[in-house]
Amino acid sequence: MIKRNPNLNLLKTSYLFPEVTARRKQFLAKRPGAQILSLGIGDTTEPLSPLVVEALAMAAKRLGSMEGYIGYGPEQGIEPLRKKIASVFYDGRIAPEEIFISDGAKCDIGRLQVLFGGDLSVAIQNPAYPVYIDGSLIQGIRNIHMMCCSPENGFFPDLHALERTDLIYFCSPNNPTGAAASRSQLEALVSFARENRSLILFDAAYASYIRDSALPKSIYEIPGAKEVAIEINSFSKLAGFTGVRLGWTVVPETLKYQDGASIQSDWNRIYTTLFNGASILSQYGGLAALEKNGLEESERLTHFYLENARLIKAALQSLDIEVYGGDNAPYLWAHFPGRRSWDIFQELLEKTEIVSTPGSGFGSAGEGFLRFTAFGKRDHILSAIQRLRTIKSEKGSSFKFAMV
Ligand code: MLT
Repeated sequence: MIKRNPNLNLLKTSYLFPEVTARRKQFLAKRPGAQILSLGIGDTTEPLSPLVVEALAMAAKRLGSMEGYIGYGPEQGIEPLRKKIASVFYDGRIAPEEIFISDGAKCDIGRLQVLFGGDLSVAIQNPAYPVYIDGSLIQGIRNIHMMCCSPENGFFPDLHALERTDLIYFCSPNNPTGAAASRSQLEALVSFARENRSLILFDAAYASYIRDSALPKSIYEIPGAKEVAIEINSFSKLAGFTGVRLGWTVVPETLKYQDGASIQSDWNRIYTTLFNGASILSQYGGLAALEKNGLEESERLTHFYLENARLIKAALQSLDIEVYGGDNAPYLWAHFPGRRSWDIFQELLEKTEIVSTPGSGFGSAGEGFLRFTAFGKRDHILSAIQRLRTIKSEKGSSFKFAMV
């Protein structure tokens, strides 16, 4: 029989979100009829904008006609979409040819991990979106440095204490902490990468949640970033495409390997080998989302979720819980000193039937935290807040909930 890929032995038995779902099922088995409210996985809930729906329907209709039918499209994405992304998000800094349309940020992170392989060192924020570390382990990478991001360092790693690595994963606005890096922090990161000849994989999937105009929405707003950074982005949280699937990755032409060879050209090779392009329907939907009206809709959508974030944050704070994030990101990062994440997750579930995400699932620095998502229907969010009012916190040597 075939042997198992030994790298898979290094992964935890299950990915974080299925584990949360399993806990929820176990709870339901014990308490059938429980009315669970999920503030766990960050999945969008609001319907697509009518503009996007119309564009999707029209694209489908065209495919149903002899004249309009097309088969495979270009792997890198349709030209109008690449051009539109360049003009809407990059203000002339990035050429359409440097933009590769994908079926989502997570899928492209996986392909980037294939591009770089296993023989390299990487630095990853701790806590972090699990795909960075799991994908690295699957590739056989053993040289992994964790960059602690905690309230004590303002969720930005101490770069002076960081050893040089080939690759640096950086997500801002951050999933899970909700922290958004300032311009000066990103300048420090870019200059660290330039000095060390490291490559940054910048995950900007939540950039559309930035409301503070002083915060950069793209790493390419930082001078010199085009020589050291790849940026990944997505329509998922920007326009509710979690199910439709669409994203993009920017691989600037100026990015080079040690020997001067082009990274973009290898990326194109990986892309054309492992991917046949994003769905043509999604791409036309994405194009509509980036028209003027589409962008206004998207602004309304992100505003809606940020309002959810504000409501949940206020409810948690009224329980004397220290909460971070939620202002420029759709995630709240709540601290429960002295408690283990899975224990507080379980306690909250039992007392309020609310599902959250245990911070420790994002890395050791997430221990003692819970992540709350702001993605949710408003009536669910309001019900969750109502339930939070039925408990109170008991401050002692460690955090504890009690019924009011
Ligand atoms: C999350 O909850 O962290 C995200 O929704 C998961 C994802 O984007 O894959």
